[in-house]
Amino acid sequence: MSSFAKSQFVKDLKDKDNVGSPFLVKFSAVATDKNGKPYMNVVLMDRTGEVEARIWEDANKYVGQVVRDAFVYVEGRSQSYQGRKQIVISKIQILREDQVDPKQFVAEGTLDAEDLYSQLLGFVDSMKDPYYKALAEIVFKDDADIADRVKRAPAAKSVHHAYKTGLLEHVVSISGILANLSDHYGKYLDRDLLLLGGFFHDIGKIWELTYDRTVDYTTEGKLIGHLVMGVEMVEKKINLLDAQPGRLPAPFPEEKRLLVKHLILAHHGLLEYGSPKRPKCLEALIVHYIDDLDSKVNAIKNFIEQDQNPGRWTGLNKMYERFFFKPDWAMEGQKTPQE
Ligand SMILES: [Fe+2]
Ligand SMILES: [Fe+2]
Repeated sequence: MSSFAKSQFVKDLKDKDNVGSPFLVKFSAVATDKNGKPYMNVVLMDRTGEVEARIWEDANKYVGQVVRDAFVYVEGRSQSYQGRKQIVISKIQILREDQVDPKQFVAEGTLDAEDLYSQLLGFVDSMKDPYYKALAEIVFKDDADIADRVKRAPAAKSVHHAYKTGLLEHVVSISGILANLSDHYGKYLDRDLLLLGGFFHDIGKIWELTYDRTVDYTTEGKLIGHLVMGVEMVEKKINLLDAQPGRLPAPFPEEKRLLVKHLILAHHGLLEYGSPKRPKCLEALIVHYIDDLDSKVNAIKNFIEQDQNPGRWTGLNKMYERFFFKPDWAMEGQKTPQE
């Protein structure tokens, strides 16, 4: 039993609430006010969201302590500042990991990781091409470290599927769409290649990001990035397959190796979105559009779901520069506005 139980969550904080609860520090920085006095800007989080906070007194005392990934016990008062929630901290104490229940601080999706992983393996089992199938198997069935990371990784630092297991949710969702599209277009598409594109397009993210507590980029992620990291993994795994006697009917065909790598490298679609190559085959084009579609659907669905404005319209979505209509599923538990 953790000694600092979580009873107050970011999502429920109201204006003028007294705060007394543990949080995880997502960000901290010292700034100075107009009189030159230092204060600390902090972003606190738990599994329900993030909230800005300020330490006005003795800010310098906390430098090096109130840092990203630290668990802290915060006392203070919640207020509305320029339309946003903010906690004015009166007391803050650093906690050890064994004093809290770490699960309460990291956002999770609603779907079960083991369940999603067996769905992923179901798509692998449905593959026919012996080379493509062996490549999917050596990654998802033979590599326990990859399996563990795939079950935990978010798909992004923010924007879409930015929660624990978000990457796997994204990959399984895309795989289902790709399988349907392959039925729809029939002989014009290679179903197994398409599935590999869905499986591997973002696989580099399991090493591009750290996600034990807060999500951030690794040094490898900053210097290399998930497209090239995915290609490197494919290269390594194909070499491993080729080195195992009897695993493949013949050496892994060169053209297939290039096509799998191309799908990863082209999935951002445009040079200015970080793809070194634009899609040059139908499968690459489709993986790019479906990846884009799935990430936008997830981002907008979450935005609508989390919107607190009364009535049928959300607040302004800065990323998409528009207000969204809230359908019935988003209205549950909301008060009808006085009109
Ligand atoms: Fe990507
Ligand atoms: Fe993606």
